[in-house]
Amino acid sequence: MHRVEHISRRIRTERPAGRPVEVPLWEQWAQQSAALPQGERLQKVLAIRGWGSRRVCEEIIAAGRVTVNGEVAVLGRRVDTETDLVELDGVPIGLRPGLVYYLLNKPTGVITTASDPQGRPTVIDRVPAEPRVYPVGRLDVDTEGLLLLTNDGDLAQRLTHPSHGVDKEYLVEVDGGSVAQGALRRLREGIELDDGFTAPAKVSQPSPGVLRVTIHEGRNRQVRRMCEAIGHPVTRLIRVRIGTLHDRTLRPGDWRELLPEELNALIESVGSHTTRAGVAPVDS
Ligand code: URA
Repeated sequence: MHRVEHISRRIRTERPAGRPVEVPLWEQWAQQSAALPQGERLQKVLAIRGWGSRRVCEEIIAAGRVTVNGEVAVLGRRVDTETDLVELDGVPIGLRPGLVYYLLNKPTGVITTASDPQGRPTVIDRVPAEPRVYPVGRLDVDTEGLLLLTNDGDLAQRLTHPSHGVDKEYLVEVDGGSVAQGALRRLREGIELDDGFTAPAKVSQPSPGVLRVTIHEGRNRQVRRMCEAIGHPVTRLIRVRIGTLHDRTLRPGDWRELLPEELNALIESVGSHTTRAGVAPVDS
């Protein structure tokens, strides 16, 4: 039976005389919404908090080790992480112990790699050596700004996967003075580079020759190549936001751990498998 039909029949009530009476429309609507699936599937919530692959998390649930609000959970159960208490072996799931998340304000001259054969300073040298962490995505050696480093491979993979299209916002100083409206429009609409057209970008010019550019692709040297293509080579490039993450007070070279609310917002932002239409697969 169709869901809506089923619900509207279910919420018909009986008059004492036995004649059915329709429930007011607004009340039907509220009851229908309440009957739709809410929240995230439990195995997904466990997986994105670092308790293992979806498969492993399904096994943990099937073994009866997970409770939601004190009741043993079944596979496929949906939870609202804001309001439901989810426990594994009686302990709130939180985040898996041992996972760390650092936000670094990368200075120029430091390379985004785990180790450099030429012995140049790397972003890894800037943060604690243990546990071993990896940069999420990449900034060019000459680019400054925010970079996330973590040992949470699952979150790193989600943040860099093109299907999630996480926004990255840059402040860009360009050569050649004020950028003409036509050139800004080309950047906004998508511009042809040697590896194809870029996706539409958000672009503004807060002052002549300074752009604020937001993209959700992660192509190699993308912002530099976009600006080059409109005849305004980049002279300074600073990443000021990664999805929900920003920090104006972190000085170049400094790092800090993410706050729990920042981490939650980040996890929530990539928790869904919704694919953003029109995003071409790219390396990031
Ligand atoms: N785009 C670039 O051109 N360089 C970066 O480092 C990041 C984005």
